[in-house]
Amino acid sequence: MRKKIAAGNWKMNTTPAEGVKLVSEILGKVSEVEGDVELIVCPPYTHLATILDKVKGSRIMVGAQNCAWELSGAFTGEISITTLKEMGVTHVIIGHSERREFFHESDEMMLKKVRLTLSHGLIPIFCIGEKLAEREKGIQFEVVVKQMEKVVYQLSEDDLKKVIIAYEPVWAIGTGKTATPEQAQDMHGFIRNSISKQYSSAVANTIPILYGGSVKGANAKEIFSMPDVDGGLIGGASLSVSEYIEIAKSF
Ligand code: G3P
Repeated sequence: MRKKIAAGNWKMNTTPAEGVKLVSEILGKVSEVEGDVELIVCPPYTHLATILDKVKGSRIMVGAQNCAWELSGAFTGEISITTLKEMGVTHVIIGHSERREFFHESDEMMLKKVRLTLSHGLIPIFCIGEKLAEREKGIQFEVVVKQMEKVVYQLSEDDLKKVIIAYEPVWAIGTGKTATPEQAQDMHGFIRNSISKQYSSAVANTIPILYGGSVKGANAKEIFSMPDVDGGLIGGASLSVSEYIEIAKSF
C-alpha cells in the first residue's frame, strides 16, 4: 500500500509570525484528517525552526523547499542539508519548476541535491512536469521521461524507493487550470510504468507520485481517486487552513 501524502509548498509566502499562525490553525484541525494520510508543510527557510518546534509531537512533518548541492563552503545564500537535518526537517522539495525557471538549476545540480538529501536520511520530493508549449506539441511524455532519466534514473533501486515524485504540469501551477483527473492519471500511470520498465514493478508500486498544479478542496477528491495518484503537492491552497484540511481529507 503506497503512502497518501498532502504536502503544502508555501513558497515565498507568510512572514514568520503568519507561518506560526497558519501551522497552529492546521494543528487545531489535524484531528479531522482520518487514516494514515501524511501531512507535510514546507515553509520558507526562515520559519523552519519555529514551525518545527510548533509541530513537535504532532503528525505534521516539515519539509524544506530546496537545499544546496554541496555540503558547505562559499555558496552565498544557500542552506546545507546538514543544517536541515540537524533542525529536524524530514523532506526536501527538489527541482521545482520555479527553481528550474528562475534559478536555472541544472540536472547535474538537482541530482547532487537528491543524492545529498538521501545520504543524510531525508526524503526528496522530486518535481517533474512539462510546460504548456510542450503539452501543446504533444511531447509531454518525452519531456517527463527525460527529466526522470537525468536525475532519478541515476539512483540505485534502494535509493529510488525512498524518493517521492511530484508531477507538476507547469501550465497548471498557480493558474487555476488544474489538469483533469484523466490527464493526471495518464501521466502518473506513464511515470509508474516507466519506473517499472527501468527498475521493477515492486519499486514502481512503492513510490508515491503526487500531483501538483492548482489542487483545491473542490477538485482534490476526484484527482486523488485516480489509481496512480498518491496525493498532492499543494501551493496556494496550502496557505488556507480550510482548503488544506479539505484536501487532506480527500483521500
Ligand atoms: O509545488 C506545488 C505548486 O507548484 C503548486 O502550486 O498554487 O498551483 O497549487 P499551486
